[in-house]
Amino acid sequence: MRTVIEANNVTMRFRLYQDRPDSLKELLIKLTQRQVKKYDELVALSQVSLKVYSGDVLGIIGLNGSGKSTLLKLIAGILKPTEGTLVRTGAISPLIELGAGFDMDLTARENVFLNGAVLGFSKAAMAEKYDGIIEFSELQEFQDVPIKSFSSGMLARLGFSIATSTQPEILIVDEILGVGDFLFKEKSENRILEMMSGGTTVLLVSHAIKDIEKLCTRAIWLDKGVKHMDAGTDEVCSAYKALAD
Ligand SMILES: Nc1ncnc2c1ncn2[C@@H]1O[C@H](COP(=O)(O)OP(=O)(O)OP(=O)(O)O)[C@@H](O)[C@H]1O
Ligand SMILES: [Mg+2]
Repeated sequence: MRTVIEANNVTMRFRLYQDRPDSLKELLIKLTQRQVKKYDELVALSQVSLKVYSGDVLGIIGLNGSGKSTLLKLIAGILKPTEGTLVRTGAISPLIELGAGFDMDLTARENVFLNGAVLGFSKAAMAEKYDGIIEFSELQEFQDVPIKSFSSGMLARLGFSIATSTQPEILIVDEILGVGDFLFKEKSENRILEMMSGGTTVLLVSHAIKDIEKLCTRAIWLDKGVKHMDAGTDEVCSAYKALAD
């Protein structure tokens, strides 16, 4: 099996700026008292190693704030790891967090072209795909409306339709299936299944464990930024669900 993603001891730290003095006077007082801490650090991921093979459908589960979206952003190249290495081969279609990559002041149509440019497609290539994207999203009536007036489900539809308008080598889906209504969810799942059978590697983040169980061939469980478990889907999901017991 060909490795398409390899993370070695990836650590991601964020700086959390806090304790900002309200005035110059306060700053001077704090400076003289050596109380100024410029920032706190938050470790979002700690020493995560992971191999993803071509054709894997990997579920990523974990509680809120456990580092799932951060891991996806690192894999997508949106973030660079603080420590460790991350190597990825193949074209990627990231669908990370609702509205990421969208400009809320632009219309749906403009955002399709904007996203296409970000994904590396020419304007002509996007023009060819455009009708298919809008048709799949079922947003025909809203093509020329600024997306700031969209509901979260409408944004999810648009994002998913754009991300899956080509067959990428790697598809990343962060918590999007839960936002669309059940009809769109079914349609999206079918599209993911189609891509899977076409050999696309899929990384799926969801709090709906049923979806992970249904779609994924393997899963990892992130716990407070640490890879707690990496095994078959059923094994990981049942261990995770046991948290509720
Ligand atoms: N840009 C950022 N700046 C500072 N802290 C961040 C940033 N992005 C993420 N974090 C922090 O990193 C930790 C992991 O966040 P992340 O979004 O990866 O969690 P998650 O597992 O996707 O959670 P959820 O299930 O709520 O989507 C959190 O504590 C979060 O506050
Ligand atoms: Mg997240």
